[in-house]
This record gives sequence, C-alpha cells and structure tokens, in this order.
Amino acid sequence: NPLDQLYRQVIMDHYKNPRNRGVLEGNSVDIDMNNPTCGDRIHLTMKVEDGKIVDVKFEGEGCSISMSSASMMTQAIKGKTVEEALKLANIFSDMMQGKEHDDSVDLGDIVALQGVSKFPARIKCATLAWKAMEKGLHQRH
Ligand code: FES
Ligand code: FES
Repeated sequence: NPLDQLYRQVIMDHYKNPRNRGVLEGNSVDIDMNNPTCGDRIHLTMKVEDGKIVDVKFEGEGCSISMSSASMMTQAIKGKTVEEALKLANIFSDMMQGKEHDDSVDLGDIVALQGVSKFPARIKCATLAWKAMEKGLHQRH
C-alpha cells in the first residue's frame, strides 16, 4: 500500500535524521524515562518560558519506532504552548488506541505513526517520548 510505504519512509527519516537531538542546558524540564520491557530510554529536556515551549531536545536509545516518535514529538511541540503540547499528547494517545482523533489540529509527520495502533506490542515504543513529555511538563520547575 503506497500510503504505508510513505509512512514507513517518514518514520525511517526521523530515525536516521532525528530532529532536536541533544540536551538543553538551563532547562525547565529534565526527565528520563524508559520502557521497562526492553530497556530503551529517552532523556528529554525542554525550556518553557511564559507557558511556551521555546526549545526541546532529546537523546536516548531505542528502536526505530521509539526514536522516530521522539523526534516527531519534539518537532510537533517546539514553539507550542504547554496546553497545545498536552492536547497533542491526548490526540496521539487516541491515535494509538485506534480511536477517532481530533483532526482540527495539524499533526504533521505524526500521522505516519497511526498504523502502530494495530501492533499492540509496538504502542509502548511509540508512546514513550509522549509520556515523558506529559510527565515532564507536569513536574516542570
Ligand atoms: Fe522493533 Fe521497536 S522498532 S521493537
Ligand atoms: Fe524498546 Fe521499542 S523496542 S521502545
């Protein structure tokens, strides 16, 4: 299916050329999270100013799905408000459960991951970075 093919290319592009890779100094969010079933991990840092995510970076090790999802997540939330980022996390969660999701928001590359909902074992891979983002924003300093 040509769409699956396209989505696979988008996923591999984010895996091979991750966006926003690194660690931010002077951050307001600094969180580590791992997927206990495989040990893959993400270290996410964000700079939040006046309720806006002005910068975000991640590093970590993991499978192609977890790392490309992290890259897409950072791309999607950079420059957004905290509220918008948390809303995106909810939309992504609905998408992973195969539910109808809010399509009033431009999801950009994230749509490439929608097929993951059909592979329960992979959902945890795709959601790792998003869980880190949500938890990190709730405990920011
Ligand atoms: Fe193979 Fe995550 S890509 S388990
Ligand atoms: Fe570990 Fe995908 S196999 S996060």
